[in-house]
Formats: sequence, structure tokens, C-alpha cells
Amino acid sequence: MGWPLFGETSDFLKSGQKFIKIRRARYGELFRSHILGCPTVISTDPALNRYILLNEGRGLIPGYPQSMLDILGKWNIAAVQNSLHKTMRGAMLALINPSMIKDHLLSDINNFMDIHFQHWNDRVINLQDKTKEMALLLSLKQVMSMNSGPKAEAFMLEFYKLVEGTISMPINLPGTSYRRGFQARENVLRMLREVLRERRASTDTHNDMIAMLLNDKEEEDGASVNSKLTDEQILDLLISIINAGYETVSTTTMMAVKYLHDNPEALRQLREEHLAIKRRKNPGETVNWDDYKSMKFTRSVIYETLRIATIVNGVLRKTTQDMEMKGFLIPKGWRIYVYMAETNQDNFLYPDFSTFNPWRWQEKNGDSLLYFMAFGGGSRLCPGKELGLVEISMFLHYFVTRYRWEEVGGDEILSFPRVVAPKGLRIKVSEY
Ligand code: HEM
Repeated sequence: MGWPLFGETSDFLKSGQKFIKIRRARYGELFRSHILGCPTVISTDPALNRYILLNEGRGLIPGYPQSMLDILGKWNIAAVQNSLHKTMRGAMLALINPSMIKDHLLSDINNFMDIHFQHWNDRVINLQDKTKEMALLLSLKQVMSMNSGPKAEAFMLEFYKLVEGTISMPINLPGTSYRRGFQARENVLRMLREVLRERRASTDTHNDMIAMLLNDKEEEDGASVNSKLTDEQILDLLISIINAGYETVSTTTMMAVKYLHDNPEALRQLREEHLAIKRRKNPGETVNWDDYKSMKFTRSVIYETLRIATIVNGVLRKTTQDMEMKGFLIPKGWRIYVYMAETNQDNFLYPDFSTFNPWRWQEKNGDSLLYFMAFGGGSRLCPGKELGLVEISMFLHYFVTRYRWEEVGGDEILSFPRVVAPKGLRIKVSEY
């Protein structure tokens, strides 16, 4: 298991998927390691993974590493449990549930994409940078009505550092990602506190998540879920919302564009779906909820992207008591890494698994697929799933109906611990 503190962490971070494949071949679907500062059991068993996600509370709690807790905050939703988790989840779902998307968020997303895609013609675009900017700016707009400009730039700069620090060794020394991430958290908190202060000092009305959380809190009518949250909890909740939706949405979008580029027939069919929507519209009329719901092929493309790129490799849990799983004793306090990438490459579940094949999702109802855990499962099933799907679909809508593109460099993709294009995926864009 390597050295007690670092264990196999550097091997794991350097070559995660290979690291797991080799050990799985040697030891089976469940094996021990010592990663990110903790003894850990890694599970690649689909049925066991599903069981673990569905059984939080029964000896299992979230098990995110110290670096993540320090940087995302002790009140971040992925760390809290029991009734506080329910309260925070309720508060969050009130902000991003499908009827909120339909009635409020969708029209903002439309306006945002319309502007985001101006001036792409005849330019080389770093798609990784642009999708990151898209996801983060959209979040800032939804959370606090912040538009692009110097304030948003300053916030984004700090937030990128914060995110980098969440997967790092918790070594608080100058120059480490952890130290930078931790300092970035302090700066992000300062900026968010300032927004809360301004909101309280002003009588202006706003239509965003902070306004909803504060109104609910200040009404204190006892009936509202959020009135139970303190300011510090609200701040960590906001960081959770921005963080959880940022990298997942941006990376899935970038990879969907990449797979569409590499698969002309899929791109043709997807573009046709979006051109058909556009043809139905009068000038100036934007995409509505029914249009979004009709984007069946687009949804299949996104699911296939999530599967084949495995944007979220796995989730972490911790045991609160000794547990036996598949004849394996897992002591109290150990972590379990519920690893999903292997299941996504299972030839039985996904014949010809390495081929990008969005049509495979049309034969079955993607949502009901038991072992597809791209959005997690159980009581922590991603509350932003629909919002994420809407954002990616809308990005694709505006992109493919306005532009064609070719890759001109930076197409190397690393898949672990994050899916990234280290040199930025560059595309040359021209009008469609
Ligand atoms: C393609 C997009 C997305 C993917 C693949 C994704 C994936 C996931 C996964 C796998 C989990 C489970 C984590 C666990 O069990 O520990 C999760 C949880 C979560 N997601 Fe997402 N997510 C996406 C978009 C979003 C968006 C847009 C938001 C918010 C605006 C969001 C907010 C959250 C939150 C707050 C949690 C924690 C839920 C809890 O602990 O109860 N996600 N997501």
C-alpha cells in the first residue's frame, strides 16, 4: 500500500485508470490501496457500487479528502449528513429544479448563449477555455446576477485556483496547489460576503439564487427550508453550487464537441435536430422548454459523452463502522472509492464499448439504466442533473446552428484525475 501518508497517491494521480486496471486484474473487483492520505478500498463492481450509493447512512457517509473539505468548506453539501444534508439539498433543489429551469433559468441561458457565441466566426478558439468560461459565467449569473466584466474576471481567477486545490495533497506550504486553493477560498468568501452585505444594504430587487436564499432566510416564516441555514452555511452552499456545476458541465461540453467532430454522422443528426427547432421559430423567438425536451438525440450524445469520457471517475464514501462487503472486511474509518469508469467500459452493458455510439441510448431509457452512475445515485443523486443537461444542450444548439469547425491542435486529452486537454483543444470556427 506504499508509504503511510502518501501511500500510492502519486501513482494513483499520475496514472489512475491504468493504476486501477492493473490492480483489478491482479486482485479482483475490490481491492485495497492507500490514496489521498487514507486507507481506501477501491470498488469497480457495478452492483456493489450501486448498493453503496443507495445505502448512505447505513454505515456509510461521504468520504471526500481533507483537501476538498478544507477548500470547499465544512458546510459544503457533499460533506454534510443527515438532517442538515436534507435541508441544504432542499434549499438547492428549490433553486434549480425543472420548473425553475423552465420558468426562469432557461431564458437567461438562451440570452447568455446568444451573446457567448458572438464573434466566433473565422477565429481559432481554445474550446477548453471557452467552455470553462461558459460554465462559470453562467453560474455567476444564476447565483448573483454577475455579468462578464472585471468583477467576474477576478472571481473566476480565484475560483479556478480553488478548484485546482480540491484534488491535491493537503500540504500547506508555499507554492502547493493546496495552499493556493485555500487562499483562493478565502478570497472567494470575501467576494461572496461582500455581495451578501450589498444585498442587505440595498432595496433593489434581484432575481437570482442569492436573492432567493436571503429572502427565504429573512422572512423566517418557519415554513421555509432555508431559514434554517446560517450565513456561513449559505456561503458554502453557494461555493458547492458553483463548483459542482462548473467542471462537470464545461468538460462534458468540450468532450461532446470533440466526439461530434470525430463522428460526422452523429454531428449531422444532431445538427438536423437543432436546425429543425430553429426552422420552427419566428425571428427573435428563443428555445423553450418543449423544444429542449424534444432534443432526444442531443440527450443521447450527452449521455454517450459522459459514459465514454467518464467525466466523473468516481465518488468517495467512508465507513462509520466495520463492514463486510463481498467477503471483504472494511474497517471503520476507511474510505471506499466507488469507481465508475470500469463499468462505463463494460462490454456486456455497452457492446463495442470504446466506440462513440449515441444511438445506443435511443434503444433504452437512459435514465433507467441501473448501472449508469454519471450523476451518482441514491440520496446524493446530482440535484443539478437537469440544469447541466439544459446548459450543455443549449451550448450545442447555438454552436452547431451557427458554426462549423475543425480541430487545429491541442487534441491530446488526459482522463485522470480530471478529464483535461493539457494544451487546450483548439478549433478553427467558421460560419455554418
Ligand atoms: C454534466 C453535468 C454534471 C455531472 C456529470 C454531475 C455529476 C454529479 C455526481 C456524480 C454527483 C454525486 C456525488 C456523490 O455521490 O458524492 C453529483 C452531485 C452533486 N451535483 Fe452534480 N453533476 C453535474 C452537474 C451539476 C450542476 C449543473 C450542478 C449545480 C448547479 C450540480 C450540483 C451538484 C451537487 C450540489 C451535488 C451534491 C449533492 C449531494 O451531496 O446531495 N451538478 N453530481
